[in-house]
Amino acid sequence: MIEFVQATKIYGKSDRAALDHLNLRVGDGCLYGFLGPNGAGKTTAIRLLTGALRATEGTVQVNGIDVSTDPVAAKKMIGFVPDSQEIYDKLTGWEYLNFMADVFDVSESDRKARAEQYLETFEMTEAASSRIASYSRGMKQKITAIGALIHNPPVWVLDEPMVGLDPRASFLLKEEMKRRARDGATVFFSTHVLEVAEKLCDQVGIIDRGHLLVEGAPEELQERMGDASLEKLFLELTGGDPAEVEAK
Ligand SMILES: Nc1ncnc2c1ncn2[C@@H]1O[C@H](COP(=O)(O)OP(=O)(O)O)[C@@H](O)[C@H]1O
Ligand SMILES: [Mg+2]
Repeated sequence: MIEFVQATKIYGKSDRAALDHLNLRVGDGCLYGFLGPNGAGKTTAIRLLTGALRATEGTVQVNGIDVSTDPVAAKKMIGFVPDSQEIYDKLTGWEYLNFMADVFDVSESDRKARAEQYLETFEMTEAASSRIASYSRGMKQKITAIGALIHNPPVWVLDEPMVGLDPRASFLLKEEMKRRARDGATVFFSTHVLEVAEKLCDQVGIIDRGHLLVEGAPEELQERMGDASLEKLFLELTGGDPAEVEAK
C-alpha cells in the first residue's frame, strides 16, 4: 500500500509547487498508472515515495511506514526502477544482481532462485554473464527491473519504465507488472503515454502541473466522459488550465 497525504514539493526558491498537495492511495494488488505530460510532477512524486527527496509539506507512507521518519524500513518495502540507466557498467548482470541482493540482505538461496526465475522471465539468462557495459538500453532496463525485484518487495515503483524498450521487452515487463499486482503487490508506475495506462492499469491518476486532476479505473473515466475516449479527456485536461478543470 502506498499513501500520499497532502504531499507537496517546492524545489529551492521556486514560487510554484512541482507537486501540489497530492492525495493518493494505492492498495495492495493494484496496478496504478500515474499519467501526465512531461514536467507534470510524476518523477517528483516518485522521488518522495522512494525517499530520494523530502516533502516540503505532507507525508508519504509505504505499508503504513512514513518514508521520512523511517526511511530504511520504507525502502525495504520498495523495489524501484528509476527513469535513468545509470547502473554499474563494470559489473556483469549477475554481479549487479548479487550487489542488489547484498544491499537488501537477501539470502543466497532466495537470491539464486529469484534471479534465475526473473532472468528467465525477461529473457536475460545468457546476457547475465556479460558486462552491463555491453547491454542495450532495453537490457539495462530489464536488469534494473530484476535487481528491483530481488528482495521480493511488496511495492514495485517504476518511473517511465517503457521508455526505450523494444516491443518484446515492453511486453515482458508489462506482463510481470500485471503478475505482481495479481499476486497482491502494489505496482505504481508513471507514464506520459495514454495507451499504456489505458490498457494496463486497474487505476489511473492523471496529473498535470503538480495537481492530480482525476483518478479512477480507465473504463470509469471513460464513462464519466460519456462516449469520449480517455484520450480526449487526457488531451483536454493537459491542454487546459488545471484550476478550470478542477472546478468542473
Ligand atoms: N531538481 C529540480 N530542481 C528544480 N526544479 C525541478 C527539479 N526536478 C524537477 N523540477 C521541476 O518540477 C516539475 C516537475 O518535474 P518532474 O517531477 O520531473 O515531472 P515529470 O516526471 O512528470 O516529467 C517541472 O516543472 C520540473 O522542471
Ligand atoms: Mg519524469
